[in-house]
Amino acid sequence: MQLYGGTERPLLSCTQVRYEEGATSALLEEPALTAPRLDLVRPTIRCMHGYVPGEQPQDKRYIKLNSNENPYPPSPRVIAALQHAINEDLRLYPDPVADRLRDKAAEVYGLSREQILVGNGSDDLLTILMRTFIGRGDRVAYPVPTYSLYDTLVAMQEGEAIRIPFPADFSLPPQLAATEAKLVFLCHPNAPSGTLPPLSSVDILAQRVRGILVIDEAYIDFADETALPLLHKYPHVILLRSFSKSFSLAGMRTGLAFGHPALIQELLKVKDSYNVNRLSIIAAIAALEDYAWMRRNADKIRATRSRLTQALRELGYVVYDSQANFVLARRAGVSQEPIYRGLKERGILVRYFSSPDLFDCVRITVGTDEQIDQLLASLKQLLASSG
Ligand SMILES: Cc1ncc(COP(=O)(O)O)c(C=O)c1O
Repeated sequence: MQLYGGTERPLLSCTQVRYEEGATSALLEEPALTAPRLDLVRPTIRCMHGYVPGEQPQDKRYIKLNSNENPYPPSPRVIAALQHAINEDLRLYPDPVADRLRDKAAEVYGLSREQILVGNGSDDLLTILMRTFIGRGDRVAYPVPTYSLYDTLVAMQEGEAIRIPFPADFSLPPQLAATEAKLVFLCHPNAPSGTLPPLSSVDILAQRVRGILVIDEAYIDFADETALPLLHKYPHVILLRSFSKSFSLAGMRTGLAFGHPALIQELLKVKDSYNVNRLSIIAAIAALEDYAWMRRNADKIRATRSRLTQALRELGYVVYDSQANFVLARRAGVSQEPIYRGLKERGILVRYFSSPDLFDCVRITVGTDEQIDQLLASLKQLLASSG
């Protein structure tokens, strides 16, 4: 008998299972398996923790300030384009490389089609990047705390994560460039702090990094300046954009990677054949055609963000200057789990992280002014009752 993963239990294929008509139980050539063969799962996967997304409750309506979604609807042009696209063409595969969307994005961002790759959300692009560049033992460096999906993706590739703590002010840690990593990730603005280092320091980082510098700009439309100009200066910079936040299209799952055509060519080999569906392509094109809609919403969110930041500071929180559509509020040394739970009981969801570096924080997505008023009213009550 062949040995499988150190046990003597054989692998049963479906063809080895024979059923006899009328029999109450299956007749098996080999003993029945009573438990799934978890020993066949790659050890790396068995040992790692999966990424934990924010809660997406389907049961009741919350004021949802936990996943950095946009409180405003997508452009009416997006809705109209989608309605028009819901027809029998859905039986056909989409364009595998979404050239119409690449061309529209090229026009909007001043690039060429060959510099753009479309993803099923920017998460898909992060996966493609990891699968393209990272094999067992390869180094991936990033400052932490940051978007925790990076950890999960490095673990899946059996890469080595070089996690460099941010200084207290969330400026760029100077050691980042010296890590000799194949990939360096910079979340720009950073999640969950919302902070954005000056472009000059990102430029210096780009000069020093020997590998590929991936600048994750999922939240950049809420910020004062983008690192897009660096793309024209450095062939080893890759920039990621998302339609989920500023364009209010989290449900459609679309993202863009910008980079040197030769790198994009390699990434194209790794993506799923039809990674972006027909409707998502159409929605993203329509969203870019109504860029002004996105800008108006992003500007409203920036104004609400200032008000929220100010109010939280008045309540005694340390709030980092955010350039994103969320703020991180800290009460040094005091767990914010009761606050998170108390808000949830009052129908308001915010994001709480139990890790030692963030347990005293809540991350709050900037909602509408009305939503933020309700959040602040509930927060005041909770703080008053907790003394
Ligand atoms: C920093 C960062 N990058 C990427 C993503 C993924 O966005 P998408 O919805 O485009 O997959 C998120 C989502 O929250 C994020 O916070």
